[in-house]
Amino acid sequence: MLIMILNIEAVAGIAGRRLGMIVCSCRAVSDRELRMAAEAGRSLREIVRSTGATTDCGCCAESVERIVSSSRPCRAEPCTGCPNAGLAA
Ligand code: FES
Repeated sequence: MLIMILNIEAVAGIAGRRLGMIVCSCRAVSDRELRMAAEAGRSLREIVRSTGATTDCGCCAESVERIVSSSRPCRAEPCTGCPNAGLAA
């Protein structure tokens, strides 16, 4: 039984590093998945459709929108001192 518990913790640790923090617990969607999709230029609607995030209880909607909007590549001309300068796609 002890070995089983250790294996589960090892798997959870690996999965946690790979997946990030779960934002939508109903659909097990992580912040990392949301950020990667947004950085790839996908819209909130496309991300919701493909991941299922926000489509059950909806409690994660505000967090999902915030993560997606903050992860979109910046298309504006960067201001002096912009922390996102150089991150534009
Ligand atoms: S937590 Fe995302 S739909 Fe319920």
